[in-house]
Amino acid sequence: MPERYISRSSEETENLGISLAKRLLPGDILLLFGDLAAGKTTLTRGIAKGLGVVDDVSSPTFTIMQQYVAGPGGLAMNHFDAYRLRNEDDWYMEGFDELLYTDAVSVIEWPANVLAALPHNVIEIHLTFIEQGEARQIDIHFPGARETADRGNEVD
Ligand SMILES: Nc1ncnc2c1ncn2[C@@H]1O[C@H](COP(=O)(O)OP(=O)(O)OP(=O)(O)O)[C@@H](O)[C@H]1O
Ligand SMILES: [Mg+2]
Repeated sequence: MPERYISRSSEETENLGISLAKRLLPGDILLLFGDLAAGKTTLTRGIAKGLGVVDDVSSPTFTIMQQYVAGPGGLAMNHFDAYRLRNEDDWYMEGFDELLYTDAVSVIEWPANVLAALPHNVIEIHLTFIEQGEARQIDIHFPGARETADRGNEVD
């Protein structure tokens, strides 16, 4: 069963990202599914904060990929936006594959475009508009039998 959250503001979505980040482990890969403006980048911004990333996260629409260095005691983060990639060949051509297998947490927007290149053992997140677009439903599926981190207040 996925964990289900309802968010009524971008601040709530960002806060969800912050608390989610506390449960992440080095090398975790998160796939963010959801339509335009569903809140994928907003959630990513929260994840980055929760991981202890110092730089502010912007939409990597024009760069496709942005790497963020970890703060003290935190984890680094790779932020991918596959919106402009046609398929897994583009993903491999960009050299993104090897970035998945590091200690950084990887967050991927528009993963459906490149799904064939992605591993199965991932955290899937689905953001959907509800209540005529007034709110978002955010479902988080952790892969089976996965231990989550308890990094407590290590990063705040
Ligand atoms: N509950 C909410 N959660 C997240 N964003 C919200 C919420 N309510 C309103 N918004 C607004 O919706 C927009 C979400 O933008 P964001 O860039 O996070 O979406 P996205 O899914 O990354 O879009 P794209 O597909 O273009 O990358 C922002 O303008 C934000 O202020
Ligand atoms: Mg985005």
